[in-house]
Amino acid sequence: MSSLSTAPTADSLSSTDPLMLVDVDHVRFYVGNAKQAAFFYASAFGFQVEQVSDLTTGSRTSAQYLLTQGNIRFILETALTSDHPVAEECRKYGDGVKDVALTVLDAERAWEQARRNGGESAYEPRTISDANGSVTMAGIKTYGRAIHSFVSRTGAYALPNIKQGATFAPGFRPMGTFSLNAWNKANPCGLKFVDHCVGNVELGKMNHWVKWYEDVMGFKMFKHFDEKDISTEYSALMSKVMASGNHLIKMPINEPAAGKKKSQIQEYLEWHGMAAGVQHLALRTDDELHSVAELRRRGVDFLALPDAYYESVWNRVDTMLRQHGHEVVKEDHQRVKDLGILVDADDEGYLLQLFTKPLQDRPTLFFEIICRRGSQSFGKGNFKALFEALEIEQERRGNL
Ligand code: FE2
Repeated sequence: MSSLSTAPTADSLSSTDPLMLVDVDHVRFYVGNAKQAAFFYASAFGFQVEQVSDLTTGSRTSAQYLLTQGNIRFILETALTSDHPVAEECRKYGDGVKDVALTVLDAERAWEQARRNGGESAYEPRTISDANGSVTMAGIKTYGRAIHSFVSRTGAYALPNIKQGATFAPGFRPMGTFSLNAWNKANPCGLKFVDHCVGNVELGKMNHWVKWYEDVMGFKMFKHFDEKDISTEYSALMSKVMASGNHLIKMPINEPAAGKKKSQIQEYLEWHGMAAGVQHLALRTDDELHSVAELRRRGVDFLALPDAYYESVWNRVDTMLRQHGHEVVKEDHQRVKDLGILVDADDEGYLLQLFTKPLQDRPTLFFEIICRRGSQSFGKGNFKALFEALEIEQERRGNL
C-alpha cells in the first residue's frame, strides 16, 4: 500500500513548536448507540471495527469503538449512564463529531501553548499508562460543541504502533471475531486519510474562528470563498479554509450568508441545537471511481446531481487543465457520470469529489469522498450545481 498520509515524521518536526502537528490522531464521534453505529460505518464505508472499550474492559460510564481504514481512525463513543456528558450532547445535537484529535509530541505542552495563545480548556491534561506505555490527552474548545484534543503517545501506544494495529490506549481490547472485518478486507473501499474537516459556525462568526485558528493553533488562511463563489438564487454561504503550518490538516469554516431562502448552514445549525459544529469530513482516496462504486454497492446514499451537470463539466474542467498545461481528466468520463461523481479543476490540476447525504436522521454531519489529481482546492466550480442539489434535499426535508 502506498503512503497513507503526508504526515511528517517526528524527526522533521521542530521541537520548539509544541503545536506542530504530527497527524490526525483520531476523530471522536458522540453517538446514541456505538455498537450499532460501528456496524453502520463498517458495513456502509468499509471500516475495520478493531477495538472496544466497554463494560467488558471495566469501562462503566461509556463505551468506545475504534474503527480504522487506511490512516483514518474514528472513535465512536456512547454513554452508558444518563448523566454522562455524551448522553447530554446526543440529546442536544444528535450523533456527530465531538473531537478532531491531533497527535503532537507533547500534549501537555501543546495544551499550555494553545491556552497561552488564547484558547479555552475543554479538559485538563490526563495521562493513562500501564507497563507498556502511556497516552496523554488534553483538550481545547473550538467552535460550538467541538473540541481539539492534543494527544501524545509513548511506548507500545506510539502512533506508528497504533497504525500497525497495536492497542489504541490502555483500556481497549481487540474486537475479536467480527465477520464484517474479513469482508471489508476482501472488498476495500480505499479510504486513506482525513483530507479536510469542515465546520459550520453562526452568522457573523466566521472571521472570529479564522482568527482563532491563526492565534491559538498557528494555522494560516489557505483559501477563501465568498457569496459570489458559492451562492444560488436561494441559499448562500461564505467559507474560509484554515490550514495547519505543515498543511497536515485543513479546517474550512463556513458561515451562512443571506439568500432568498434558508442557507444550508442555517439548516445545520437549527438541527444542531443552534451550536456550531463539524459539517463534513472529507475522506481521501487514490481512486475515486473504485471508492464510489464500492460505497454505492454497499448502499451509501450520495447527493444526486442533475444530468445537465455533465453537459458542461468536461469542457469547463479540460479547458482549465489545458490552459495550465496539465493532462486532461484521465478517468473514464462515462463512468464518472454513471457514478454521479463531481469534477473540478484549478491552476494546479483537478479533483474528483462526491458528497453523501446526512449520516444520521438530523441533517447535520455528512462525508465527502475526495481524490486529488494535483488540485489542492475544494471544488469551487461545483458549488453552484451542488447547492442546487442540496436545496432540493432541503425542500424535501421541509427546511428551505
Ligand atoms: Fe469538503
